[in-house]
Amino acid sequence: MEPRGLFITVEGGEGVGKSTNMQFLQEHLIEAGVDLVVTREPGGTALGEDIRELLLKPREDSMADNAELLLVFAARAQHLAQLVEPALARGQWVLCDRFTDATYAYQGGGRGLSMATIRQLEQLVQGDLRPDYTLLLDCPVEVGMSRASARGELDRFEQEQAEFFQRVRNTYLQLARESSGRYHLVDAARPLNEVEQQLEQVCAELLACWGARHR
Ligand SMILES: Nc1ncnc2c1ncn2[C@@H]1O[C@H](COP(=O)(O)OP(=O)(O)O)[C@@H](O)[C@H]1O
Ligand SMILES: [Mg+2]
Repeated sequence: MEPRGLFITVEGGEGVGKSTNMQFLQEHLIEAGVDLVVTREPGGTALGEDIRELLLKPREDSMADNAELLLVFAARAQHLAQLVEPALARGQWVLCDRFTDATYAYQGGGRGLSMATIRQLEQLVQGDLRPDYTLLLDCPVEVGMSRASARGELDRFEQEQAEFFQRVRNTYLQLARESSGRYHLVDAARPLNEVEQQLEQVCAELLACWGARHR
């Protein structure tokens, strides 16, 4: 039987550089011979991408916080069933742009929904599945916001106020402290070449950990 693949998630607020650095990680890991699946949340499947559009589209009317929370987990349920679980079971690594830590940060920290409720939904949708490794790209809110706004039109989340993103950032940092074994914190305020040096280190650790597990 194939050994189960590694499940790696990349987290952080708006404009910290998740997409940019996922590209770098992807190239590095593939070059090292990893059979890699790259995906994102919300999204990653046809249904999930439809739900993503619903979540990100700015709207005239409001979206109830619980509606948002359940849409996030609906997309996640589809993503796990259709893509993530089968890939890991085949021995592929999965590199995912945001996962449930983002739900704790955005819906829990940002919107103020109950962490206990999120934990229940996490259990319902994921069972025992948790990421093996989580890269948290962290930088001051203003830095991320200015990078994100230079990117063009703001989505429904990006239109939130600075205090919202401050709560998101604080929650991410708290999660990293609570699960320090799984988390790797990267200072994303540094110039890109310095961030990439930190990521090379991360890739080396991941490959070593994988090698040790399957020797
Ligand atoms: N370390 C960095 N220094 C300066 N600019 C960066 C850095 N990382 C990313 N950027 C730029 O910031 C913008 C947002 O990056 P992106 O990867 O789209 O962020 P995210 O996916 O986290 O929202 C992009 O234009 C990207 O080129
Ligand atoms: Mg992105």
